[in-house]
Amino acid sequence: MTAPRRNVELKARDADPEATLRRALALGASDEGVLRQRDTYFGRARGRLKLREQEGGRGPIAQLISYQRADDARARTSAYRIADVADAEALREALDASLGTRVVVDKRRHLLLYENVRIHLDDVEGLGAFVELEGVAGPDSDLSREHELVERLRSELRLGDPVPVSYSDLLLDEPEALLAAADEVMRSAHAPYSQFRVGAALRTPSGAVHVGANVENVAYPQGQCAEASAIGALIAAGEREISAVAVVAEKLDVCPPCGGCRQRLSEFASADTPVYLGRPGGPLHATTIGELLPLAFEESALG
Ligand code: THU
Repeated sequence: MTAPRRNVELKARDADPEATLRRALALGASDEGVLRQRDTYFGRARGRLKLREQEGGRGPIAQLISYQRADDARARTSAYRIADVADAEALREALDASLGTRVVVDKRRHLLLYENVRIHLDDVEGLGAFVELEGVAGPDSDLSREHELVERLRSELRLGDPVPVSYSDLLLDEPEALLAAADEVMRSAHAPYSQFRVGAALRTPSGAVHVGANVENVAYPQGQCAEASAIGALIAAGEREISAVAVVAEKLDVCPPCGGCRQRLSEFASADTPVYLGRPGGPLHATTIGELLPLAFEESALG
């Protein structure tokens, strides 16, 4: 085990990753290339325990990382220990068998370096685009220089509000966050004929959430499902891709999207896009577009 190390960290959603990359390079940050990282978080740990498997950079790396971190909206500090791992798959299976896996974070990371600050341009599966700043502190540092550099970069890269929680926590919270958005919009539904109010929330890769409710009509077939309304909002916002779906119905604990909406959603999603059916606070039925619409009619069928 190594001695504990310290970082000053800041994370924010990135609405325009290309512009952020341009700004960072213009400041003189060096481009350290693109990495693929998979972090598996295990259960029952004191603090956090994750296995990081990385490709890209100077070849594959596997490390077991143990750390404690206080979640704080300002730039955070953390202390961590790293152990190199020779057989990542065997360790992952052993830890999963004894501790259980809490969550897996898969991401593409474009790494840049500005002095001793690592700039991460991250595209996280299921969450979207983020920037992370990590000021790596030497053993004798009082952290003031790291705080100053992170603050300078935050302003130069025009980062938005800090996100005070980890990707793993965001992923663990994602069903709840999307179900809450769907539940809220459900209350605006126009369903005077069925009295069956439905709300849908769609996450996009940018991190935005678009919502919609069902809109019925006295000429019954003219009615529109909540999912179709939410897709309309997503398209109106200039987006084209769905990274996660939630559907909530007032009178049904778990409301499966109708067949037509499965097809509508699949136009903008992929087979592994998560779909959360339920209510905020539970119950939750988590599925995927592929499970809801097997043997889908896709663009490739058109030849
Ligand atoms: N409904 C939805 O909004 N989404 C679905 O996936 C299932 C059904 C709506 C349509 C109609 O307004 C009401 O629920 C009863 O069918």
